[in-house]
Amino acid sequence: MNFSMYMPVDIRSGEDCVKKNASCFALGKHALLVTGRHAAKACGAQDEVTAVLDSLGIAYTVYDKIGENPLASVCYAGGQAAHDAGADMVIGIGGGSAMDAAKAIAAYAANLALAPEEIYTAERKPSLPIILIPTTAGTGSEVNPYAVLTLDGQDKKKTFTDKTQSYAKYAFLDAKYTMSLSEKYTLSCALDAFAHCAESYLSPKADEASRIFAGYGARVLYAYIRDSVPGQVLTRETRETLLYASCAAGIAINKTGTGFPHPLGYNLTLTRGIPHGSACAVFYGEYLSYNEKAAPALCRALYDAIGADGEEIKAVIKEKSGVDVTLDEETIARYVEKVKSAGNYKNSPYVINEQEMADIYRRLFLK
Ligand SMILES: [Fe+2]
Repeated sequence: MNFSMYMPVDIRSGEDCVKKNASCFALGKHALLVTGRHAAKACGAQDEVTAVLDSLGIAYTVYDKIGENPLASVCYAGGQAAHDAGADMVIGIGGGSAMDAAKAIAAYAANLALAPEEIYTAERKPSLPIILIPTTAGTGSEVNPYAVLTLDGQDKKKTFTDKTQSYAKYAFLDAKYTMSLSEKYTLSCALDAFAHCAESYLSPKADEASRIFAGYGARVLYAYIRDSVPGQVLTRETRETLLYASCAAGIAINKTGTGFPHPLGYNLTLTRGIPHGSACAVFYGEYLSYNEKAAPALCRALYDAIGADGEEIKAVIKEKSGVDVTLDEETIARYVEKVKSAGNYKNSPYVINEQEMADIYRRLFLK
């Protein structure tokens, strides 16, 4: 087996893993806790973390201003808050938005002389050390260096990453933090994680090791997605399986990045409010069909790993996305311009051109 893998995150998992690994939190004297408004508190994670910090004599400040699709300016303000508090470490608790914001805030805190957009290009001082604690099973952000930020006033997402600085020192995976998520939200998160697996599996950057993680995650997530029904109550065991599968998906895209459903979906999320996972999933029929033309054997290997027929997979993932929007030609042209500026639309065996991007949007949404 020929592979290479860089995974510097120390992952701790299982029930009460925060409490059981308390000494890992001793990365500084003052922590900035980066969270959304409610989730980190409501699921119990924030209280467990602050109890550990108290026991270690580490002070903390809570920055709970992270909404969905975090703005670069809000992360910059978080960096300012970290600096003002004298924080020397950052703990992100939440879904992808809070964890991605934590990575950006850890960079801004050490580089306040930069304007928000300069974080992408300017030379930076080292970020503050980061700990990440997911409270959803979707993004896998806890094990990759990507921070997807929304640029202020531009309806556009741009990924910040620093291959040496944006990884967490530790990630803690405890499924109890995901127990109270609604069935609808759990499904959308699972669709995102499934997209990570499939797009990683087919990526030209994948190797045998990353495909083991991607294939495992895709099988587990697909089985949940296919069988999910409204109002379903999930057991702790299922929640744990989904959390670990989303982490496996994160390890896979850490190697490969994502493919074109992501940039096509970002437009729907930013302008139509469609949740990220659903916005990626609606493109799955198109994504798999195009790639079958360029790499039929690889697609068959993915379907075998999932344990289902390709046509079934396309139909199930699209149907479970639940996306029903209408677009006009003018909007489609605007969307295509934004997709073109994202590098990852090229990250699959079949590289769609501008015309094909527009055709995909037309087939799905022009009525
Ligand atoms: Fe994603």
